[in-house]
Amino acid sequence: MKFLVPAYSNGMSNQTLGVIGSGTMGMGIAEVGARGGWSVIIVDTEQPALERARAAIANSITRAVSSGKLDAVVEEVMARVTFTQKLTDLAPCPVVIEAIREDLADKVAVFRELDEILDENAVIATNTSSIPVAKLAAATSHPGRLLGLHFFNPVPVMKLVELIPSLLTDLDAADRAEAFARDVLGKDVIRAKDQAGFVVNAILVPYLLSAIRSLDNGVAFRDDIDDGLVGGCGMPMGPLRLCDLIGLDTMLLVAESLYSEHLDPSFVAPALLRRHVDAGWLGRKSGRGFYDYSA
Ligand SMILES: NC(=O)c1ccc[n+]([C@@H]2O[C@H](COP(=O)([O-])OP(=O)(O)OC[C@H]3O[C@@H](n4cnc5c(N)ncnc54)[C@H](O)[C@@H]3O)[C@@H](O)[C@H]2O)c1
Repeated sequence: MKFLVPAYSNGMSNQTLGVIGSGTMGMGIAEVGARGGWSVIIVDTEQPALERARAAIANSITRAVSSGKLDAVVEEVMARVTFTQKLTDLAPCPVVIEAIREDLADKVAVFRELDEILDENAVIATNTSSIPVAKLAAATSHPGRLLGLHFFNPVPVMKLVELIPSLLTDLDAADRAEAFARDVLGKDVIRAKDQAGFVVNAILVPYLLSAIRSLDNGVAFRDDIDDGLVGGCGMPMGPLRLCDLIGLDTMLLVAESLYSEHLDPSFVAPALLRRHVDAGWLGRKSGRGFYDYSA
């Protein structure tokens, strides 16, 4: 049973989730928010990105309904989602989740704007994969309300969320975010220390980078690497295909951020990853990465 009136609402009865960034992750987070019964306002600076998100969310909800995984009327769920380019539209939101590109300066700029827009009791979560949350929180005027909620891709499918309170996060804000992720979004929540990569990416990213390195070094062909890890280790998807799903630009930014924190060579981005990003081969989202998605 979902809490449609959350116990943690701070006297704010407004059940509106704000999502910033309508890319790979933002669109998924918006979808699970709307499926959980909340209204969602999703903001992106790029109108085409908002249009892509609208189509992708409608598609995904339609698939979930027709496969029997979701008992809902597609139009009713879609009617709960508003697409906008104005950050100020998030003013009524008690919970805001940021999912813009993995760039410290860009994220800090957004959080500084939110300082002026949101109620001081609102909780702000960053979906950063690799930037320490304290770095982001310290740049805002209410660091106690900012924490990490790290979702996994594709968000409507993957059950896990890592919750990362920074040294500056109020315990109450962390508890409210956990209740929201669990009861409204239907996620399983684990708590993680505020270190770049948290739990999952600190372990996963060296594995993915080593698959790219193996390809770069000619250890095996692309399909043999992916088939090897699927057939030999029971992975649901090969590592190169997973990199394409994550987005190769995101992989590069995450690797750089993890390396700068840990100075561990297992986080060094292979040249082949950089060349793919230079070429604009960003994975599924651009139609080409290690695989070709143009068809
Ligand atoms: N891709 C993944 O598998 C994955 C998984 C977990 C976490 N993350 C994290 O989620 C965040 C988003 O990643 P993504 O893969 O969805 O990126 P993406 O490139 O697919 O989408 C980012 C979106 O943010 C928009 N944007 C950029 N600056 C903005 C701003 N100032 N205001 C509003 N919108 C803005 C862009 O137009 C774009 O649509 C990153 O921090 C990333 O590390 C990604």
